[in-house]
Amino acid sequence: MRTKLIVGNWKMNGNLAANATLLRDLLAEPTATGCDVGVCVPVPYLAQVHALLAGTAIELGAQDLSAHAVGAYTGEVSAAMLKDFGVRYCLVGHSERRQYHGESDVLVADKAKAALAAGITPIVCVGETLAERQAGLTQDVVKRQLAAVIHANGHCISEIVVAYEPVWAIGTGQVASPEQAQAVHALLRLQLQAASPHAERMKILYGGSMNAANAAALLAQVDIDGGLVGGAALKAPDFLSIIAAAQQG
Ligand code: PGA
Repeated sequence: MRTKLIVGNWKMNGNLAANATLLRDLLAEPTATGCDVGVCVPVPYLAQVHALLAGTAIELGAQDLSAHAVGAYTGEVSAAMLKDFGVRYCLVGHSERRQYHGESDVLVADKAKAALAAGITPIVCVGETLAERQAGLTQDVVKRQLAAVIHANGHCISEIVVAYEPVWAIGTGQVASPEQAQAVHALLRLQLQAASPHAERMKILYGGSMNAANAAALLAQVDIDGGLVGGAALKAPDFLSIIAAAQQG
């Protein structure tokens, strides 16, 4: 039995006042039981959110990190720096990083490695574009993306979280059906089983237009262990509804 995990991805949203209000509203609810919760926030707000989440059940996350440990890499943020602010999770290979910043499978794999070396759980995002799905390439694409991370991380692979995020579902309101998502999750689980004796306890999240209305049906699928939530994570009632659905699922 895998504990569900719901992670908010704030992307490039928020400010000091809005973050404080959102977290106040999230923390006003009783502590989540039977479900782990995290929020991945923009780097400038790590210190603020770290302080506001201290002693609470919500874990801190980041949205990206450098593959390098230290040195002359202007603008980059290392895993150790994130660790200094109590970061527990870090997204790697989000499709917006792959698409707008040219991140390759190999770079994503190296970032996962850097996170693991610092004791941060990488949430490795994989997913196909609409064109790839229509061309029947979904399986090839997600397997290739995950294979690179498996190849670079050896037995440490057991410590990652995977997020299946079909690119066509991200921010579009066009959610994958529970069956479509489950089919890909089952495939990813098989790939993890071949790579790790611990695949049964590893979490595979779904992301892409998850909201209060569709979360329960997605989270009821046998291989969907939680959600990576963008837009709906910015509204406390919506994010809390998704957490409640995960607690029941
Ligand atoms: P969305 O984003 O929930 O707004 O579709 C999900 C994500 O990009 O992680």
